[in-house]
This record gives sequence, structure tokens and C-alpha cells, in this order.
Amino acid sequence: MKIIALSGSLRTQSFNTRVTQLLEVLAPSGVEVNPATLHGIPLYDADVEESDGIPAAVTILRDQIKASDGLVIVTPEYNAGMPGVLKNALDWLTRPGDELKPTFGGRPTALAGATPGAWGTALAQSGALINLRQLGVHLYPAYLRISRAHMKMTDEGVEEELREQARHWLTGFVEFVKKG
Ligand code: FNR
Repeated sequence: MKIIALSGSLRTQSFNTRVTQLLEVLAPSGVEVNPATLHGIPLYDADVEESDGIPAAVTILRDQIKASDGLVIVTPEYNAGMPGVLKNALDWLTRPGDELKPTFGGRPTALAGATPGAWGTALAQSGALINLRQLGVHLYPAYLRISRAHMKMTDEGVEEELREQARHWLTGFVEFVKKG
């Protein structure tokens, strides 16, 4: 089984990118978790789409999603929503319109997120539900919410309790993907 874990942050030291890497390490046997990035995706502009087509970075990410059995979106929370770079990427990924269904339709999808704040990106995840419903994904009903990320993911490593939280959540998502 292949799972793609997409980070919604471009930051080098991103907690959310670190979560994608943690999930990669925690993948149970027979499961591959591949971290993916938004780097290189330009701002959506319909004029650019018309003149130049779909950017290479979007096509690469789309191919990664299509080759996966499940998608994990690891989103930071900015002003109670997902970051613009992530929404922008989701918008590109639904272009041209006939790509929406093969990319997202019915695809087992889970939401995760990390923040130094207290609520583990709950608001960003809740807001993302509106968009994910539009995309027609098959949503995993449990969310990985990591609060106080700066205290749990440090230069020393990842706190054991967080590892267990993430392992348990990932195992549940793997079962969800298996059920189809
Ligand atoms: C934030 N941050 C933040 N955190 C949160 O829990 N709720 C929020 O609404 C916001 N809002 C917000 C807006 C903007 C513009 C920025 C830049 C930041 C803090 C955010 O969680 C923190 O910067 C994380 O470290 C971002 O995720 P990465 O880059 O570490 O993955």
C-alpha cells in the first residue's frame, strides 16, 4: 500500500513537514508513506493555465496522488484556516476540471496537522472539510491533531507520546484504506 503525505508548509523547519517524515518512519510493514511537497507550485492564474498549461510541479504531485492508495494532508493552521499555498495547490490539482475526479474522487484521505498552539489545527482541519467535500474524497473520520508541536518535536527528537499518537492514528488510517 502506498500513502502520500502532503505537507502544507514550505518552511524548512516546518513541524508539519516533520510530521510527514514521522509518518514515513512509522509506516507499518507493507505500507509505504511518501512525503510530498508544495514547493515549485506557482499561484493559480487561469491566464497562465490557458497559455502554458498545467505546471510541471502540479503534474508531478498529481501523479504522486494518483499512484497512491491514500492521501494524508498535513496542514498548518493560519488564521484558523489552511495556508493559502495549500488551498492554491488543491485548486491547481483540480485543473483542468476533468482531473478532479481521477485525482480526488473517492480517494481515502486523512487530515493531520501540527501547531505550537493549543488546538492542534482543529480549526484549519474543520475548514478544510468544505473543500474536501467538494473534491469528493473518502474522508477518514479521525484527525491527527498535534498541539504544542515545538515542545514535542525538538532537536532532540520526537516525544514518545507523540510517536504513539501518530502510530495509532496511522494504523487506523491504513485499516480505513484497506476497507476501501
Ligand atoms: C500562524 N500560526 C497559527 N497557529 C494556530 O494554531 N492557529 C492559527 O490560527 C495560526 N495563525 C497563523 C497565521 C500565520 C500567518 C502564521 C505565519 C502562523 C502559527 C503556526 O501554527 C506556526 O507558525 C506553525 O509553525 C506553522 O506550521 P509549520 O510551518 O511549522 O509547519
